[in-house]
Amino acid sequence: MTEQNPLGLKKIHHVEFYVGNAKQAEFYYRKAFGFSRAAYSGLETGNRETTSYVMRQNRVNFILTTPLSPEHHAAEHIRQHGDGVRDIAFQVEDADYAFNEAVKRGARAFIEPHDWQDENGSVRKAAIHTYGDTIHSFISYNTNNGHNYNGVFLPGFIAQEVKGDEVGIVLVDHIVGNVELGKMNVWCDFYRDVMGFHRYITFDDKDISTEYSALMSIVMSDGGHNIKFPINEPAESKKGKSQIQEYIEFYRGAGAQHVALLCKDIRQTVAKLQANGVEFLTVPDSYYAELPNRVGEIDEDIESLHKLGILVDRDEEGYLLQIFTKPVEDRPTVFYEILQRKGCKGFGKGNFKALFVSIEDEQRRRGNL
Ligand code: FE2
Repeated sequence: MTEQNPLGLKKIHHVEFYVGNAKQAEFYYRKAFGFSRAAYSGLETGNRETTSYVMRQNRVNFILTTPLSPEHHAAEHIRQHGDGVRDIAFQVEDADYAFNEAVKRGARAFIEPHDWQDENGSVRKAAIHTYGDTIHSFISYNTNNGHNYNGVFLPGFIAQEVKGDEVGIVLVDHIVGNVELGKMNVWCDFYRDVMGFHRYITFDDKDISTEYSALMSIVMSDGGHNIKFPINEPAESKKGKSQIQEYIEFYRGAGAQHVALLCKDIRQTVAKLQANGVEFLTVPDSYYAELPNRVGEIDEDIESLHKLGILVDRDEEGYLLQIFTKPVEDRPTVFYEILQRKGCKGFGKGNFKALFVSIEDEQRRRGNL
């Protein structure tokens, strides 16, 4: 543990979603997003409480969990929020240490450190609260008190492979949290004080403002820039309703807004996702006419990006290519970003304006502007 990494975080271990029907969500993530089912927990494995599918694509692990009774706390989570992110779980050096240190530094405890085991061994697990009803679990393997796990994923899961047709998603790049008006700094301070993160990039409403969609955003990052959590709050818009406010009303509070998934060849990935039926936001043709002036020389020919609706932005170190899905559930809440970085460490600030006009068109169609 160091000053830059006081909790000993290693990486995002997985993201767990609570969903109304995990069997159908599994089908969607496999058939549309190209994940493979890797593991399963449910009635057949002796789990009487929930059914969970572990969906994997390269280094991305999602757990899709549904409760089997209305008494399980996941049922209340779904009643309040619809399908959404419950847990952004970290692999840590030592779950006991991470938990105790986090709580000492001001985190609200959720689950005390405990053994989690099956016939393949054990891990240590604990959890703290973050914004809204979202939690951060801490999971450690190979602890010095003898925990080690050799199973397919985590205790309670059996291997159950159902192959998806991979689309080239490799890694979680960042996960954005939407928080209530006035709470952005509170949660940025939380990530600074509890996790030792620092303010990486700040956007204010001058950067990100159209007629309606004003928001403020601060990107919090760990020292190694491996874990990046932008925090958004709605800003007073000139008229109508900020897209962040729309999220908060439909999610009934703060929560994860989008998960950004890194890929190596975005044109290939997006072509496959579109063929699979994933719906993306689109920007007007004029965006591509202005693009050469805005970003200069890039490797990709602009017509091919235009055809797929991929956006480009540049900073001092390079450029990035990105595209955003529409919300993946009926409430206008959680969506995905697909991105490829070519040196650029930013988040696509130059695209905010074009994107927000597109998001506002969608909001207007939903009667929420
Ligand atoms: Fe993003």
